[in-house]
Amino acid sequence: MTKGKVDALLGIVFGDEGKGKVVDFFTPKYDVVARFAGGPNAGHTIIFEGKKFVLRSIPSGIFDEGKLNIIGNGCVIAPDLFMAEAHELEVAGYSLTERLHISRRAHLILPTHRVLDRAYEAAKGKAKVGTTGKGIGPTYSDKAARIGLRVGDILHDFENKYAILKARHEQILRDLHFTDYDIAEEEARWMEGVEYMKKFQLTDTEVEINRYLREGKSVLAEGAQGSLLDIDHGTYPFVSSSSTTAGGVCTGLGVAPSSIDRVFGIFKAYSTRVGAGPFPVELFDETGEEIRRIGNEFGAVTGRNRRCGWIDLVALKYAIMINGVTDLVMMKSDVLDSFETIKVCTAYTKDGITTTDMPYDTEGWQAVYEELPGWKTPLDKLRRESDFPPAFTAYINYLEQALETPIKIVSVSPDREATIIR
Ligand code: GDP
Ligand code: IMO
Ligand code: MG
Repeated sequence: MTKGKVDALLGIVFGDEGKGKVVDFFTPKYDVVARFAGGPNAGHTIIFEGKKFVLRSIPSGIFDEGKLNIIGNGCVIAPDLFMAEAHELEVAGYSLTERLHISRRAHLILPTHRVLDRAYEAAKGKAKVGTTGKGIGPTYSDKAARIGLRVGDILHDFENKYAILKARHEQILRDLHFTDYDIAEEEARWMEGVEYMKKFQLTDTEVEINRYLREGKSVLAEGAQGSLLDIDHGTYPFVSSSSTTAGGVCTGLGVAPSSIDRVFGIFKAYSTRVGAGPFPVELFDETGEEIRRIGNEFGAVTGRNRRCGWIDLVALKYAIMINGVTDLVMMKSDVLDSFETIKVCTAYTKDGITTTDMPYDTEGWQAVYEELPGWKTPLDKLRRESDFPPAFTAYINYLEQALETPIKIVSVSPDREATIIR
């Protein structure tokens, strides 16, 4: 943490790396925590003092009562889901309205955006993205098409603006022959959510953040999704629709590249992916099942099985390059405790060609592995690096050398406490 600077914590694979846990752990060091991309497609789990929370739109710095949290302009927000999420925190005793500011430039996810999400997926047949169904793609599409509704719109002539966009969506749905939906109840809750949002400070968060930086305050930018789900750098078209990488921090918060200091790249000791799309390290055997079971790899938002595989250095190297990662954070190391050997994907191969560079299209590539000895020791109770079993230290050293980036933090269980700084 440097005064007057922004540090970013970015998922650098396919999401669900454990961003929520680490942002919550980092929060005491920062003045402000800000989300810059995505919306309720995210599910960030935080566990402490026997309590568990899953945040979708609200930043993971919210559990530290002294800290300001911001939902930045690069985010999309569903008022009904936001209200439900905020209520849950209020019931648990956290005050929000003073400590959570929302950008007036963030875009609104309408109920019809969610219907469109379903309709577009249905129309894709076998080429489905496997979205979270939260209306993310259609909302960012409307933003790019310059017809979206923004949070600031709810304060002026909103009913009218809403009706125009809704009618446009209904026309598209008729054109797609997707008419079997009923949003009446959902829409009523959504409107309630819009009213609820008015209790919050709906501000020009980019001006606010830049003022804090000038005052010497520090900001932590909380990533959502992962680099390989980035609209530009991910495994397109099997991606989300926002800029989840370091560039997205600048556009999604309105801060200059020169204001960014550290970039923390977070990954798991193995790989997962939820939803469709190429995944060269995917395991279809018992080992994959075993990782899913031990790692509890089921989606925090949709409950879907996460696809599991060994760690992928090709993907990690690419993401480290795109983001300018300065520090790596390795999560869920404990999930590999029982394995005799651990594989590491060092290259991809297809049609007699082998590459260590991320291909334009990862479809059809096979992983090439190296095999390392497992540590066969439970890690979850360890709190000091000096207690690590030698084979685990060797795994860390191997990854650091291959990735040419230091692994500064290692996580060995879901709890806030189980976070070891090296
Ligand atoms: P996020 O979307 O990046 O915030 O990650 P998710 O919350 O979707 O998924 C990460 C899951 O791993 C959550 O269930 C966490 O509680 C859990 N988790 C985080 N760190 C660790 C760890 O070191 N070990 C284990 N076993 N689980 C962890
Ligand atoms: P967090 O922040 C994992 C995936 C979906 C789908 C694709 C597009 O918890 O890491 P979308 O609904 O965004 O249009 O879906 O992206 N996806 C995620 N996978 N973690 C996430 O968020 C994700 N957000 C979206 O499964 O494949
Ligand atoms: Mg998640």
